[in-house]
Amino acid sequence: MLYIGVDLGTSAVKLLLMDGEGKIHNIVSKEYPLYFPHPGWSEQKPEDWWSGVMEGLKELTADCDKSQIAGISFGGQMHGLVALDENDDVIRPAILWNDGRTQKQTDYLNNVIGKDKLSEYTANIAFAGFTAPKILWMKEEEPENFAKIKMIMLPKDYIAFKLSGVYCTDVSDASGMLIFDVKNKCWSKEMLEICGITEAQVPKIFESYEAVGDILPEIADELGFPKNVKIVAGAGDNAAAAVGTGTVGDGMCNISLGTSGTIFVSSKSFGVDENNALHSFAHADGHYHLMGCMLSAASCNKWWMDEIIGTKDYAAEQAKIEKLGENHVFFLPYLMGERSPHNNPNARGTFIGMTMDTTRADMTQAVLEGVAFAIRDSFEVAKSLGIKIERTKICGGGAKSPLWKKIIANVLGIKVDVIESEEGPGYGGAMLAAVACGEFASVEEAAAKLVKVVDTVEPDAELVEKYNDRYAKFAKIYPTVKELFDTVTI
Ligand code: XUL
Repeated sequence: MLYIGVDLGTSAVKLLLMDGEGKIHNIVSKEYPLYFPHPGWSEQKPEDWWSGVMEGLKELTADCDKSQIAGISFGGQMHGLVALDENDDVIRPAILWNDGRTQKQTDYLNNVIGKDKLSEYTANIAFAGFTAPKILWMKEEEPENFAKIKMIMLPKDYIAFKLSGVYCTDVSDASGMLIFDVKNKCWSKEMLEICGITEAQVPKIFESYEAVGDILPEIADELGFPKNVKIVAGAGDNAAAAVGTGTVGDGMCNISLGTSGTIFVSSKSFGVDENNALHSFAHADGHYHLMGCMLSAASCNKWWMDEIIGTKDYAAEQAKIEKLGENHVFFLPYLMGERSPHNNPNARGTFIGMTMDTTRADMTQAVLEGVAFAIRDSFEVAKSLGIKIERTKICGGGAKSPLWKKIIANVLGIKVDVIESEEGPGYGGAMLAAVACGEFASVEEAAAKLVKVVDTVEPDAELVEKYNDRYAKFAKIYPTVKELFDTVTI
């Protein structure tokens, strides 16, 4: 049978066609616009996602035996607020995971409702990108739109709804809304009330590997798919990527270098970081995970290469980097503010340490290292909780760079396992579809059978030492300039 994984990302939707043996038959990508209507705001049109998905599904399956298609599932950009009216039309553009407009509402939740209460209700505190502060923002700033809300959902759930007609979400993605009781995997009545919405306005919750229903007959006809194709709940992109890299069960780690950068630690038991610097979310394998998320990772490199030095040849630019661990330039990668661990939408990108002999290569290197250091910030929080991480998987666009993988291995001082398919969320999505269709008994069984490590990047003791020194300096920069960000931010 054939399974489709839909990775609904921020720059594009990537669709992947996989068979029951895990072999990838085709991959198709469709880009859509991202809107920044004010500095720090970030929006997309759900209608653009939907047309990208439909075009992509047609192209993906053009040459395959469509009668073999059994299931479709998802890895979706998390936290985005999609609001539908009584006709199931989108009320306003979706407010995305990296949108920083909700400082006031985030402060209200953390300081007036209080972090202890939030953590008790949801296992998490408020971050500007989470969904609950956005609901409050809409209530305060766009009361007419707020009054029209029939249903609130997350980005990939909108696609699942358009394909199946079912209002659905899954436990991993719902965890990032701050209206979901992660430990008990149900909506938090207290949080719904705080946000001014009712249980009738939020979708039904599924495990990530559960089918929500069959494809709608008219959509099946348009695509030429069988009428019994299962639409499977899927997961937030990080949990789906973790499935796709075999980061399931207990104590496994995955790093994603996508538009965002995340460090994800799977766990069979529920746990909370008492300072809530890491997110405590449900996992797509039926268990839980802790995660640190930085808002700009591979996007910093893209910004530096495309916008600042004006090149598309990233590899040639990185080939000029000769000395790792000895760069005198530092870069704070906070181009969209920062989530973990600083929780500061006003943080901004910063270069520091340049001299007259600083080269373009030093600056390029500082960008790659700055992202690795910022991941280490969350890695250090995980270590302080007693979590031992000796190796990690890696995925996302940034993972295509051998140099960046080497920097990550040495900045963190751990082994980096490279897997056969770097298609994290799309591959994980297809695996979830396969589990729901009975191809595998569990997500863990699917991961054990399908995910193959093909290479390992080992840290080098001398370089780790040098990077420990560099990291100690990096860690001092943010606290020193923090106050300034409030002054310079527009
Ligand atoms: C995770 C997060 C990002 C988005 C990116 O908390 O906000 O990783 O899911 O798509």
